[in-house]
Amino acid sequence: METSLKESRAFAPEKSFQASANVGHPAEYEAAWQASQKDPVAYWEAAAKSLHWDQTWHTAFEGKFPWVKWFLGAKLNVSYNCLDRHLPLLKDKAAIIWEGEDGKSETWTFGKLFEETCRLANAMEKAGMRAGDTAAIYMPQVPQAAVAMLACARIGVTHSIVFGGFSSHALRDRIADAKCRMVFTADVGYRKGEKIQLGQIVEKALEGNSPIEKVIVLQREAASPLMNKGIWWNEFVGAQPPTHQAKPFDAEHPLFVLYTSGTTGKPKGIVHSSGGYLVGATTTAKAVLDLQPNDVYWCTADVGWITGHSYVVYGILANGVTTVMYEGNPVHPHAGRFWELIEKHKVSILYTAPTAIRAFMRLGDDIPGKYPMKSLRLLGSVGEPINPEAWMWYQEKIGKGRCPIVDTWWQTETGAMMIAPLPGVTTLKPGSATRPFFGIQAEIVGEDGKPAGREQGGLLVIKHPWPSMARTILGDPDRFVEQYFSKFPGLYFTGDGAHQDADGYFWIMGRIDDVINVSGHRLGTMEIESALVSHPAVAEAAVVGRPDELKGQAIVAYVTPKESESGTDLKELQDKLKKHVVLEIGALARPEAIFFTKTLPKTRSGKIMRRLLKDLAAGKAATGDTTTLENPGLVELLN
Ligand code: WT7
Repeated sequence: METSLKESRAFAPEKSFQASANVGHPAEYEAAWQASQKDPVAYWEAAAKSLHWDQTWHTAFEGKFPWVKWFLGAKLNVSYNCLDRHLPLLKDKAAIIWEGEDGKSETWTFGKLFEETCRLANAMEKAGMRAGDTAAIYMPQVPQAAVAMLACARIGVTHSIVFGGFSSHALRDRIADAKCRMVFTADVGYRKGEKIQLGQIVEKALEGNSPIEKVIVLQREAASPLMNKGIWWNEFVGAQPPTHQAKPFDAEHPLFVLYTSGTTGKPKGIVHSSGGYLVGATTTAKAVLDLQPNDVYWCTADVGWITGHSYVVYGILANGVTTVMYEGNPVHPHAGRFWELIEKHKVSILYTAPTAIRAFMRLGDDIPGKYPMKSLRLLGSVGEPINPEAWMWYQEKIGKGRCPIVDTWWQTETGAMMIAPLPGVTTLKPGSATRPFFGIQAEIVGEDGKPAGREQGGLLVIKHPWPSMARTILGDPDRFVEQYFSKFPGLYFTGDGAHQDADGYFWIMGRIDDVINVSGHRLGTMEIESALVSHPAVAEAAVVGRPDELKGQAIVAYVTPKESESGTDLKELQDKLKKHVVLEIGALARPEAIFFTKTLPKTRSGKIMRRLLKDLAAGKAATGDTTTLENPGLVELLN
């Protein structure tokens, strides 16, 4: 990571930016922050009071890592908190502004979103869906995706959203793992001027044995055929009444499961709670994104990722704020699509990923230069470290020097932002996510688990449980313990390397495990390796991340073909293997390069030397100690 601008430029809170009324004056902030660090439970208990609880808690927090409970004895309904409680004042306010790639848009008021959610919740109950069941959502970025989420939440059905970019195989595995009884989809999604046949992908995912009983399909094309087990959304909802009495559920009731890649071949179903999760998402959204009643807020993430869960839907709607959903490619049909959309809907807060910012940077300054974007007042960044150059460009060319940037560090497992500045309060440094949020005890430790000194690189850990933390890995509690709590007993291990500067600011360097970050999407190298070795031509495979200016990291695979493949056209095999990975996982996992080797470099104990391959992929001479190598320095490339 380029660090030349680091620390040399500190941005004081913008003069033009009102210190956020949501967190108090800067002078009061320090004391409040210190207090929250000393007593996180008291901080979160006070924060929780902003939600509507049908029954309050008798104990705010109980347990210790890994097993914790928040808001014990309390009951709430997440859907009620996002919809019903706003109706008296905000019935006619825009809840969702949806825009398609072609410029078509729709505004869904809180009133309409409530009614559609109630109708679907009624239909689901009539179909026998009950609290404790799980439903999959494989939808494009449309308001009905939020309706499906909120309808599930309303009746206590745990949802499992699978990003529309995942393949039928990936969808099938996730449906099987969570034993989903129902899946919501659409016949098609629209992207880059093309139709993506989501319905067909679902149909393939259900081949053979599947726990799915019904497929609810949002029809967008008149000619689409209905699949096996399918029922059109409109028919399913039929004449269901537009009201529904939300039932309160336990604070610890599982709101959703969301799969994310880990260090083994199998994705992990991260389970999130209802009460603690909503407290975390809502509190951080309000404070860090500085949500105000008149904001038009746009987070460009898909609802299929945790950012979409927490900061397109739950955390934003729970605050009664208008959220924008865009279905399409950022630069289609033209390079100024994003900025045009900001102008059209008078977007005031934009939350996006560094990879998108770097892509826009490459297209040139004159494109955003054509759009004054006077409505913008705050910018956010998430998903990967933002290099200071991209930070500066974002500030100058998009924010026109007027808007603070909140760089927010968090993870699928944390549910909500963990390290992030407060706009108008925190002095910003380009490239740093700054300081932990209220009530979040973050620390850098060495391999021995002892605190590292300032300016000392180390591993990022969290010391005290927080309400929105993952509760377990679905069906695999042992892996939950092993993955996050075994390296440093008593601490939550994030998997990220980082350091703290002399001012206590956190600088996140990225994953230190076998997880790579490609365009802000987390992928497990082992997962891609499993996909590769499942191809009949492959004997062995190793996958590493190669630094990439645009994507952060690019996927590079080293593959040993089977003996039987000698004489095969390697160019053809490369294409076949790329297609195979797309089939097994999805387009987001397609390797950028595949190198064929006679053997993979291994230690005497048979472990693949990934570090050596990583260096090789990065174009560095292999570094480090290779004395334990069976065949030092020998990675004989065949192509
Ligand atoms: C990993 C989590 C949380 C939403 C999107 C990604 C990296 C995330 C930042 C940031 C540096 C970041 C970390 C983390 N990451 N945000 N602001 N600065 N790195 O969620 O797929 O669960 O991935 O993304 O490496 O561990 P995720």
